[in-house]
Amino acid sequence: MRKVFLTRKIPQTPLHELQKICDLKYNDLDRNLTQEEIIEQAEDCKILFCLLGDKIDQRVIDALPKLQGIVNYAVGYNNIDIAYATQRGIAVTNTPGVLTETTADLAWALIFSVARRVVEADQLTRSGNFKGWAPELLLGGDIHGKTLGIVGAGRIGKAVAKRAVGFNMKLLYTSRNSQMDLPNSEKVELDYLLQNADFISLHVPLTEQTRHLIAAREFEMMKSSTFLINTARGAVVKEADLLAALQNKQIAGAGLDVYEEEPRLISGLNKLSNVVLLPHVGSGTLETRDEMGMICINNIKAILAGELPPDLVNTDVKK
Ligand code: GLV
Ligand code: GLV
Repeated sequence: MRKVFLTRKIPQTPLHELQKICDLKYNDLDRNLTQEEIIEQAEDCKILFCLLGDKIDQRVIDALPKLQGIVNYAVGYNNIDIAYATQRGIAVTNTPGVLTETTADLAWALIFSVARRVVEADQLTRSGNFKGWAPELLLGGDIHGKTLGIVGAGRIGKAVAKRAVGFNMKLLYTSRNSQMDLPNSEKVELDYLLQNADFISLHVPLTEQTRHLIAAREFEMMKSSTFLINTARGAVVKEADLLAALQNKQIAGAGLDVYEEEPRLISGLNKLSNVVLLPHVGSGTLETRDEMGMICINNIKAILAGELPPDLVNTDVKK
């Protein structure tokens, strides 16, 4: 038996493909499952096909004795206890690559939205309060010619940076081991980036080293005209400190797709007009969600065949 449990329905095309290659059971409810429900429903599965909101920790892994693979429908995998899965000989896979450009597009949607006050402007127009062109109506700030700071120049960070070239922006970036081959770009220390960028976009994965990378000390370094964009993981930013920085006008605003305790928002955040708040839709296009599904299927096929899956995260796992 090639039992696979999928914690929530994915789009139709990959779902149908998946049904062809395994004995699939999936959650058809319009909500995520609790850990208890996952444990109960995935009990005899070989592969757990899960979402980034599913916390797959030691407790879940121990409760699934037949588990051979954890296939995450996301590029980030901070929701999974990788060290424990590795110790138990369980392969973990993700979906790198396919969502890079899509997520970069969304980071830009946030840059445009915060700089030009797109959401506030829509609300004003929609509510009937547009009384005609006015010299000081909803003035925003320029994007072209400004400085974009990319924290973490991995695949997505680079894709965001590439788009800035057409806007004649100066690029500052941090990276442990990669270089950007783009005009007007400079690799710098984080503190320098924080002090000099007009837009700061976060693209590091969430690890113990990057948790609360951006907190009170970091907000103090930013200019009062700076916008923070987060399409990575909420906990890279200490949300209470972000809230304070926004309330005290220490920074100009923020565009957020991710939150520290998703789906909960820190109290007070939704009262601010200088933030744009999205419900974690960075990879949310029809094309990309299909492709993410197909990538997961390839990984599932390989694990079921006893082969090394193409997107293995824990490469030190023993087979
Ligand atoms: C989205 O946040 C992902 O990690 O795929
Ligand atoms: C995306 O694929 C990344 O790792 O930046």
